[in-house]
Amino acid sequence: MDVKEAIQRRRAYRSLEPVEITVDLIKDLAGCAQLSASCNNNQPWRFVFVYEHDMLTRMHELFSKGNAWVKNASMYIAVLSKKDYDCIINERVYHQFDTGMATAFLILRATELGLVAHPIAGYSPQKTREVLGIPDDIEVITLVIVGEHSKTINPILSEKQIVSEKQRPERFSFEKFVYLNKYSNK
Ligand SMILES: Cc1cc2nc3c(=O)[nH]c(=O)nc-3n(C[C@H](O)[C@H](O)[C@H](O)COP(=O)(O)O)c2cc1C
Repeated sequence: MDVKEAIQRRRAYRSLEPVEITVDLIKDLAGCAQLSASCNNNQPWRFVFVYEHDMLTRMHELFSKGNAWVKNASMYIAVLSKKDYDCIINERVYHQFDTGMATAFLILRATELGLVAHPIAGYSPQKTREVLGIPDDIEVITLVIVGEHSKTINPILSEKQIVSEKQRPERFSFEKFVYLNKYSNK
């Protein structure tokens, strides 16, 4: 699979079935994230790969209602960072940007391996810290939900979620976000 195909194949699928998680898989994903660029090579990202059954179950309480579908996943990756792990240049704070890029690499590699790797914001960061033992001053930026896309749609999904399972949610037209040579008030 080339990069463009991985980008096109990546989807935030929600209808999942379990997949085997190995330490080799985790090393592979972390190894791809690790090669991402970062300001001054600060590498501000930290990842907690949660895959033991008991830990997955303990985490079930911290997801928002609309994210009940995550219970069929086989791994949750807590993506962490902290402002002072990375460059702060006047008002420009880079830790989330750099951690996001590294996470995108991880997600694309998971896609290449035939997995679903779906980032979410619908969880309690505080409960995540409690369950995973993360200090208060470290941000829980996202949880990436990992599993395999199921062949039949899981009935736990809402109608809206079923629609986006079948068809990728629409994107803005280029006119909305692409500028050529100069910015303009469109
Ligand atoms: C930061 C972020 C937070 C998201 N939070 C959730 C979430 O809480 N629950 C969910 O089902 N999907 C979540 N998504 C997935 C988006 O809804 C999805 O990426 C978007 O609808 C586009 O669909 P696609 O990724 O399949 O192209 C999130 C995605 C991102 C990047």
